[in-house]
Amino acid sequence: MPTAPSRPAPSASSRMAAVNEMTRLLRLLFEVERDLVRTLPTLVYRVGEPELKYLLCQHVWESAGHARFLRERGRELTTFGTTDAVREPIRRLFTEAVGAATADPLVIAAGFYEVLKPALLAAYRHYLEVTDPLADWPSKKLVEDFVADEERHLREIAPHLAGVDAREWKLHLTQALDDLGGWLGQETRLPLAAGYVWQQDLTPYTHPATCNRAPYPVCSSVFGLDPREDPIVRPWLTDPQTDARVIRLMVYVWLMMEMDAIDYLATVFYDTPAAPFDLHHDLARHLWDESRHSQFGFRQLPKLGVDLKTVEHSLDLYHILVQMPPHERYAMMTMEFEANSFPTKATVMDRVRELNDFEADTLLAFDRNDEQNHVRYGHRWLPEMMAMFGEERPTEEFVAATREKFNRLAGLYGGRTPHSLPREQRLTGDKLRRIAGI
Ligand SMILES: [Fe+2]
Ligand SMILES: [Fe+2]
Repeated sequence: MPTAPSRPAPSASSRMAAVNEMTRLLRLLFEVERDLVRTLPTLVYRVGEPELKYLLCQHVWESAGHARFLRERGRELTTFGTTDAVREPIRRLFTEAVGAATADPLVIAAGFYEVLKPALLAAYRHYLEVTDPLADWPSKKLVEDFVADEERHLREIAPHLAGVDAREWKLHLTQALDDLGGWLGQETRLPLAAGYVWQQDLTPYTHPATCNRAPYPVCSSVFGLDPREDPIVRPWLTDPQTDARVIRLMVYVWLMMEMDAIDYLATVFYDTPAAPFDLHHDLARHLWDESRHSQFGFRQLPKLGVDLKTVEHSLDLYHILVQMPPHERYAMMTMEFEANSFPTKATVMDRVRELNDFEADTLLAFDRNDEQNHVRYGHRWLPEMMAMFGEERPTEEFVAATREKFNRLAGLYGGRTPHSLPREQRLTGDKLRRIAGI
C-alpha cells in the first residue's frame, strides 16, 4: 500500500504564528511607550505653566505604566525578547520629536500630542481589531485601558495647545512616521522624500541652560535668612518661637518649589539612553511624585491667602545641576537634597500638627513617605548610573566629590538670577507673618 505523501514537519514558529504575530505588535507598542518615557520629559523644563508641567509628569508616569504592563504581558509570550532595547527607527523618530532646544516648546508638545500619541492610540486600536478577544484576553484588557488613557491624555493636553500653530513641525514628524507606516507598520508606507532632513543630524539636542517658569516671577533661591527678602527664613523653620501658621505657609512654599526637582530630574531621562527600562520607570515615578508634592503647595497656598503671582520661582538648582553630568545630578538629588531633608521636615511636621489641619498633616505624611522611596531609588540606581558613565570610585567617595563640585559650580552658576519683583511686591517671610494674621 502506498504511503501517504510526506509533508514537511511544521516548524515550531509556524505552529505558533498567531501568538507570534500579536507578540510582535506588543513588542513594538512596548518600545514606543518606553521611548516616549525617554523623550517626553524634555518638555517638562521647557514649558513654563505649572499646570502643564504637572500634566506632562503625570503622562510620563502613565506611559511608564503602559510600558511596564506591556513588558510583563509580553514576557508571558516566548518571542517577546528579554532585553529593553528599542529598535533604531523608533528611537530615531522620538529623538527627532525632541526638536531643538531653541524651538517653541508648545510646538514640540504639539508634535508629541498631535502626531506621535494619536498614532499610538491608532496602534492600540489596531491591536484590538486584529487580536482574538478570547484567546488574547489578557492583552486585550490592558490595551482597552491604554486606549482610554491615551484618549484622556489628548483631552487633557488640548487646552494647553489651543491656538498653537505647529503645522510645519507636525508635517515634519508625520512624514517620518508615514515612512514607518505607523507605529505598527499597519498603514501603507510612504517612503521619505530624498530631501528629508533629520534635524537631529544638524543640531543634536542639548538642555537649555535655564528652565522655563513663565508666567511666574523668578529669583535665585526662595531660602534665605532675611525675612524682608525671602519667603523661607531658614532659622524660622526650626525655631520653637515661630508661629505654626507661618511654618505651614513656609513649608507649602518649600513644597511648591519642588518644581526645581521636577525640572532637573526631567533632564536625566534623555541623558541616559542606555538605561534599563526599570531605571526610567522609577525615575518616572520619582518625577510624578515631585510634581504632586509641588502641587501640594501650588493648590494650598491660594487657599491660605497667598497670591501665587507674588511667589518667585527659584532657578539656582536647575542652573547649577544642568552643568553637571546626569549621574552627578541624580547623586545630588537623592544622596544630598533628599537624604538630608528628613530631620528639618520632621520638626516642621510636628509644628504643623499643632494646627489640627488634617489636610496639611496628610500631605506632609505622604511627602515623607514618597521621599523615603526616592532615597531608596537613589541607592538602587546611582551605582548603575555611575557605571554607565564610567565612574569607578566607591559611591560614597563619588558623592563626596560631587558635593564639592556642586559647591564650586554654585559659585559660578548660582545666585545669578535677580529678583523679578521688588521686595514690596514679592512674598517674603514678613509677608507670610502678615498673611498668617500675626
Ligand atoms: Fe518631593
Ligand atoms: Fe523627592
